[in-house]
Amino acid sequence: MSSNIETIRTYREEALKGGGKDRIEIQHKKGKLTARERLSLLLDKGSFQEMGMFVKHQSSEFGLDEKRYPGDGVVTGAGTINGKQVFVFAQDFTILGGSLSKSNAGKICKVMAHAMRVGAPIIGLNDSGGARIQEGVSSLGGYAEIFLKNTLASGVVPQISLVLGPCAGGAVYSPAITDFIIMVKGTSYMFVTGPNVVKTVTHEDVTLEELGGAKTHATKSGVAHFACDNEVEAINTVKRLLSYLPQNNLDDPPLLECNDPVDRENEKLVSIIPDNPSKPYDMNDIISGVVDNSEFLEVHSEFAKNIIVGFARFDGRSVGVVANQPAHLAGVLDINSSVKGARFVRFCDAFNIPIVVFEDVPGFLPGTEQEWGGIIRHGAKLLFAFCEATVPRITVITRKAYGGAYDVMNSKHIRGDINLAWPTAEIAVMGPKGAVEIIFKKEIAKAKDPEITEERLIEEYREKFANPFIAAERGYIDEIIEPQKTRYHLINALKMLENKVDFNPKKKHGNIPL
Ligand code: HXC
Repeated sequence: MSSNIETIRTYREEALKGGGKDRIEIQHKKGKLTARERLSLLLDKGSFQEMGMFVKHQSSEFGLDEKRYPGDGVVTGAGTINGKQVFVFAQDFTILGGSLSKSNAGKICKVMAHAMRVGAPIIGLNDSGGARIQEGVSSLGGYAEIFLKNTLASGVVPQISLVLGPCAGGAVYSPAITDFIIMVKGTSYMFVTGPNVVKTVTHEDVTLEELGGAKTHATKSGVAHFACDNEVEAINTVKRLLSYLPQNNLDDPPLLECNDPVDRENEKLVSIIPDNPSKPYDMNDIISGVVDNSEFLEVHSEFAKNIIVGFARFDGRSVGVVANQPAHLAGVLDINSSVKGARFVRFCDAFNIPIVVFEDVPGFLPGTEQEWGGIIRHGAKLLFAFCEATVPRITVITRKAYGGAYDVMNSKHIRGDINLAWPTAEIAVMGPKGAVEIIFKKEIAKAKDPEITEERLIEEYREKFANPFIAAERGYIDEIIEPQKTRYHLINALKMLENKVDFNPKKKHGNIPL
């Protein structure tokens, strides 16, 4: 008996060595941690229950029979983060470059299946040279099985991908299907084809980092939701993110104790909107001024900055915030901001997280670039996402709510539950200047009467239409509130909507304009 125990211990020790001392040293020299070091930072101490530690690949082509490592290049299992159950897989680059084999794909799929049955988040730590070249199609099949599991788990349990090294070729599509991608500057990269192939096909010279580094994906492509300075920050970002999320689609978002008074007034909000309607202000000041303890976890903070999305709490309960940002492109909706907003709204709706919208939007961005790029179908994504969302939905219009963008940004007409406006709100088909130039075109051209100036007409239009009162008269705005009391009104509305139940017509699935 004791010799059996000795054998297990020996096996375990071997597995814990990964690809061995030398390869671990190389990993560290690159500024990267090993799979096990990462898991020990991510999971609560002593909570990791490993599965498949002794799995080995069954291949023998191209000398693979000489390279059988216990675990086969991925560490999988379950554990807890701040006491909550999660399932994890961490690719081990020190074993055959963390390449994906049929066997290790099986291990990943197994924990994903557990996560779906148990109803717990899946966190994937990606650091891999891609498909195990020696295994050929078996490895490709392994990837496809993971993609399928990612897709089936989508909207059932939260899925978070940490990309902590290479993630190339078709391998990128597993993280891409998950809800959030977190990358590390300088050490992680994602691309469909690397710089050499790019050079051959398009003759472009581009570095690894420029093509698919964390900064690129967090600013240009929008593939990465977070770009962190190092792995520890990336792992802490996972923990922060999870603190706002329910365990699965049948669970409620976490409710934490709140020491920020519900009726805390914020006098700064009274004067935050500039007198000149063309002047920008920072919507982040409004968000942080009303949420619990000013804590806001912004998602996609460097991408499509004209819309802000992220998580916060009101009286301890998680909400998703979607807000136009007048400080960037005047808060206009364009292709990237529409797609960014739509994806976030759909995530919140899938996971029962109420949505709070702060609106100051002058409309959709004009121009050939936008029209030819498909602003019609991309803008429709945001509209579709709001229309189909059944979670509690609240809007606060702080200033402009013009044109189609008024409808899109969670208006009453598309099932916004509580729609509030500040006295500074301007709800109209378009801005006063544009409106006057169209409806009084002839009068302005012919005007002999010095009283009929464009300025006077603009002022008249502003007084008549560019305010929240007409919308409030029609019931499209539930209440015009004093800005300093916004927090109190939002918490009240969220409490009122806590048990909201709403359904969409029964169907297989909608056909969101992709
Ligand atoms: C098998 C691999 C491997 C792979 C790396 N290794 N990638 N083994 N299959 N895909 C092994 C290496 O042989 C080496 O083994 C060890 O991992 C470390 O690799 P190095 O090259 O020494 O590391 P580094 O210099 O850091 O370079 C990392 C790398 C490079 C840039 C990722 O290894 C590389 O280019 N690998 C191939 C990438 C690739 O083309 N993959 C296929 C993509 S297509 P030893 O024993 O020497 O330590 C794809 C299709 C998926 O993945 C399709 C899904 C639909």
